[in-house]
Amino acid sequence: PLVSMTEMLKIAKDGGYAVGQFNVNNLEFAQAILLAAQEEKSPVILGVSEGAGRYMGGFKTVVNMVKGLIEDYNITVPVAIHLDHGSSFEKCKEAVDAGFTSVMIDASHHPFEENVEVTTKVVEYAHSKGVSVEAELGTVGGQEDDVVADGVIYADPKECEELVKRTGIDCLAPALGSVHGPYKGEPNLGFKEMEEISGLADLPLVLHGGTGIPTKDIQRAISLGTAKINVNTENQIASAKVVREVLAAKPELYDPRKYLGPARDAIKETVIGKMRIFGSSNKA
Ligand code: G3H
Ligand code: ZN
Repeated sequence: PLVSMTEMLKIAKDGGYAVGQFNVNNLEFAQAILLAAQEEKSPVILGVSEGAGRYMGGFKTVVNMVKGLIEDYNITVPVAIHLDHGSSFEKCKEAVDAGFTSVMIDASHHPFEENVEVTTKVVEYAHSKGVSVEAELGTVGGQEDDVVADGVIYADPKECEELVKRTGIDCLAPALGSVHGPYKGEPNLGFKEMEEISGLADLPLVLHGGTGIPTKDIQRAISLGTAKINVNTENQIASAKVVREVLAAKPELYDPRKYLGPARDAIKETVIGKMRIFGSSNKA
């Protein structure tokens, strides 16, 4: 069923595992992620960026596509549809009104007081509709759709504590050195700050830029209160690789099902691998 992230992440945090947010770029991504979740008996979060939402036609198209798949595939594990990096109150409201069960308000590039103000407004509206809210502090490096970072700024633990207390958010993404897209070398995550934030704010933490983080770092982040990990690029790379291979091996091929079908299988396998590392398999 479609649910918000609130319960899912509370249970994950208490259980010492993380739920994956896997970004949806098109029909095949949605199919692959839902099938992986069902097969693994894992709760799952479908992440939809504003750009990906536009690409697919709009938020209503996304919600109806996901609802259709849940029915046709008989998906029984908990599924959240989550707006990824929502840029404004208006965009978050649009997603909630379209049927998203969760939203992220990313006001992390604004001054702290403005972040608190817009996040509070989103929480009031979203919670009145049973929708969960994620907020961010600091800057995730790299680029994802319209979200471009000019440098990595670590979240300040005291500000995290204050943001959580003043806004009533359901989970917090403190940027601590993670990057959207592939890492140049090994990631250098701020575990000391993560521990401090966990001690100051008793809520599930979110790790963005999940692509390319070594398993030992994932496990350490989970042990410090991370209960949601976002992955997008790794699935995109897996799917593009298969499309290239199939089309190179058979240049006469033109039926999209013949190259997007295998790409879908590759995404599914990648997602299953992540669910096992995150520990969410057999938790639904
Ligand atoms: O919000 C989405 C993620 O943070 C995805 O990051 O593309 O590096 O896996 P990634
Ligand atoms: Zn992100």
